[in-house]
Amino acid sequence: MQLSVVILAAGKGKRMNSDLPKVLQPLAGRPLLEHVVTTALALGPAAVHVVYGHGGPLVKAALAGFPLDWVEQTEQLGTGHALLQAMPRIPDDHRVLVLYGDVPLVRPESLRGLLAAADGDAVTLLTALAENPEGYGRIVRDDGGGVAQVVEHADATPEQRRIREINTGIVSVPARAARVWLSQLDNSNAQREYYLTDVTAAAVRAGVRVTALLLDDETETLGVNDKIQLARVESTLRARRASALMLAGATLLDPARIDIRGSITVGRDVTIDVNTVFIGTVSLGARVKIGPNCVIRDAVIGADTEVHANSLLDHATVGERCVIGPFARIRPDSVLADAVHIGNFVELKNSALGQGSKANHLSYLGDTEIGAGVNVGAGTITCNYDGQNKWPTVIEDGAFIGSGSMLVAPVRIGAGATIGAGSTIASNAPDGKLTLARARQTTIDQWQRPDKLSAEAKAAAVERELQAPTPKRGG
Ligand code: UD1
Ligand code: CA
Repeated sequence: MQLSVVILAAGKGKRMNSDLPKVLQPLAGRPLLEHVVTTALALGPAAVHVVYGHGGPLVKAALAGFPLDWVEQTEQLGTGHALLQAMPRIPDDHRVLVLYGDVPLVRPESLRGLLAAADGDAVTLLTALAENPEGYGRIVRDDGGGVAQVVEHADATPEQRRIREINTGIVSVPARAARVWLSQLDNSNAQREYYLTDVTAAAVRAGVRVTALLLDDETETLGVNDKIQLARVESTLRARRASALMLAGATLLDPARIDIRGSITVGRDVTIDVNTVFIGTVSLGARVKIGPNCVIRDAVIGADTEVHANSLLDHATVGERCVIGPFARIRPDSVLADAVHIGNFVELKNSALGQGSKANHLSYLGDTEIGAGVNVGAGTITCNYDGQNKWPTVIEDGAFIGSGSMLVAPVRIGAGATIGAGSTIASNAPDGKLTLARARQTTIDQWQRPDKLSAEAKAAAVERELQAPTPKRGG
């Protein structure tokens, strides 16, 4: 049977107390709903329908890149009513799988299991044994152990509330039967809603087999209704991703102190110290070491490279055997070849460094193309902005830039050139020569240190000096 997935995502999410619709609240840096959509698509369904209501345009825009069919539910009259809105889009001979926009951690494998158990006309429910079943629908079984009905917490008797087997909300139903049962729902219950869960009792009445599949991992059922639950889901997902990294061979100095907001792949024997945040798509080669407190976004880092504490990398491609940081900032679109060293308080932006080149201390290198074997001295700055335009700097192979140099772009430093420390270089420097541009050193014999002034004398001096005319050239 072909599969149509329906994701229910129309609810307000009142308890989030947020201007952002609930299904757009970020989990590991992505909207909640995106996690569910990704899971749904992993099943290879014929279609994924999303029932939306609150925050419609925002929700649609946030998921614009995905192949989804959007179904509006203008009034939120309950989960059964929500599914009913999608039914006109679904052929009779499909199987419907219902997912919830606010239950993001369910695994595709669990859903495959649920679908595999659903042969013929059967209805299958995903259930779990909850430590604390408060708020969930309960699975009520008959004397033979078969599923009899799902009772919502609000409607449950005290005895039913003691049942620990809960409804995850995730259910698979043949489309033809769903259409019939949904059209027969009523809202004579504690919440005056059309409950999707009443489909279970309808199936039982119609003599259709209802199978409950019990999840091993209760965390897959975690729903998000408030910020506390959002934090719990975040830490659960973090733990899962940390475990996956460790199984792939990474050493995490503390698996509770890593954040993965996106996807990360690692080679063998990678070591990651505490409090590092990985965002977007990150790949770490074999034996890479990441120090504490780094933020690494959309980066490829080659084997044996070390990133020391407190470094930030954003959209960077880093070769093998590089040494970065501590306190390095690599801004977007920088490319480091092998064996490059970027030291403390060095900022790169849209710059490329060739093999073995080094900028070890206190520099800004923006829009710069640096060859191989270059040494950029401490405090070197590329002056790439004239107030209106950004200009490039080229530093060729083997050049040596003395400390404290200002390279006023556009400018080229030739191969093997040496720039004297403290130079302001505004014209191209030729290959292989020493170029320097700085005032000649003088010593003033009669000079004396000033006297310490009283507060009044100092105020008068400030007044006088700040009014003094600017000296003209040669004047
Ligand atoms: C639902 C189930 C409950 C289950 C729990 C698991 C029903 C009646 N109850 O309860 O058995 O234990 O989930 O988390 O189904 N939604 C709509 N339109 C609506 C109402 C809801 O799209 O008119 C969406 C919500 O956005 C949400 C999902 O359906 O994504 C679940 O709705 P919610 O009101 O949170 O149901 P629960 O009370 O949690
Ligand atoms: Ca819910």
